[in-house]
Amino acid sequence: MAINPRYAADLAKVAPLYERVKTVIPDIEWPVHAPYVAAINDLKKQRNAVILAHNYQTPEIFHCVADITGDSLALARRAGETDADVIVLAGVHFMAETAKLLNPDKTVLIPDQRAGCSLAESITAADVRELRRQHPGVPVVTYVNTSAEVKAESDICCTSGNAVKVVESLGTEQVIFIPDEYLASYVREQTDVEIIPWQGHCEVHERFTAQELRDFRGSHEGLSIVAHPECPPDVLGEADFVGSTAQMQDYVTSNRPAKVLLVTECSMSDNIAADIHDVEFIRPCNLCPHMKRITLANIQESLETLKPAVEIDPVVADKARAAVERMLAIGR
Ligand code: 13P
Ligand code: SF4
Repeated sequence: MAINPRYAADLAKVAPLYERVKTVIPDIEWPVHAPYVAAINDLKKQRNAVILAHNYQTPEIFHCVADITGDSLALARRAGETDADVIVLAGVHFMAETAKLLNPDKTVLIPDQRAGCSLAESITAADVRELRRQHPGVPVVTYVNTSAEVKAESDICCTSGNAVKVVESLGTEQVIFIPDEYLASYVREQTDVEIIPWQGHCEVHERFTAQELRDFRGSHEGLSIVAHPECPPDVLGEADFVGSTAQMQDYVTSNRPAKVLLVTECSMSDNIAADIHDVEFIRPCNLCPHMKRITLANIQESLETLKPAVEIDPVVADKARAAVERMLAIGR
């Protein structure tokens, strides 16, 4: 059977990109991805667009079409620095909102509006106002995994990469820390500031158990366990290192453990393994259904139609932007 010449040209054009991911994407799958990769990389030029991809995106997105990759903090920082006219956020909705807050005049696209987050769903602006009423004068530190409306009720934002630094930057004896109860408890262990938490959880990280990690350590000699601080405290107690997704990646890259278990979303291991071949990844990972709503197909459609675009009420946006910018002024 003759191969369509356009398809053959696409395959040839993106062949060098396959070299980056060939250890994590089977060659039988690549012909499905290749036409999308070729089309998206052309569309980015036509639209003067950049794709920001979170560390939990699949390798064909992360390594083959993204311009900027990283944790929530890096994506927020880099979103504020781009000259592009269009930003596509390959991640979840709160990340796209943060990019829009920092680029009110640019088009910010989220390829599937349903890409939410259980933490962002766990708290509303009215809940924050009620917390303030219960704790008058206590500042509110808000994890970026929240809606713009919740950020607008906050004094400052934080990410998993800078939470302790942000809490201590306020110079108060107490802070209200929302919405992740487990990140709050991780921060509490590292500071004298009294932390008033909320009961939000990440549906991906709360599923890991300390017993499963002990079992993996028992069956893999010399295993390093690296965990995200959204995990429950007893799970973090089993870890050799705890950090944001970028800090987890840095830990593996610099320490080169012979075997590592990343206690987080599944694509993290694939994305690091594509670059690092001397580390064995043990994978009891959990999938984030929201992150997985983003695909090459809907990135392409989003760049073609310039939809769905993120819009934020200007009054909410001004207040939420102040909380994000206050965080960015502090640094990691
Ligand atoms: P990071 O900021 O560490 O990338 O975390 C974002 C997130 O959603 C983790 O579940
Ligand atoms: Fe939200 Fe958890 Fe998914 Fe991160 S992994 S986007 S915190 S649900």
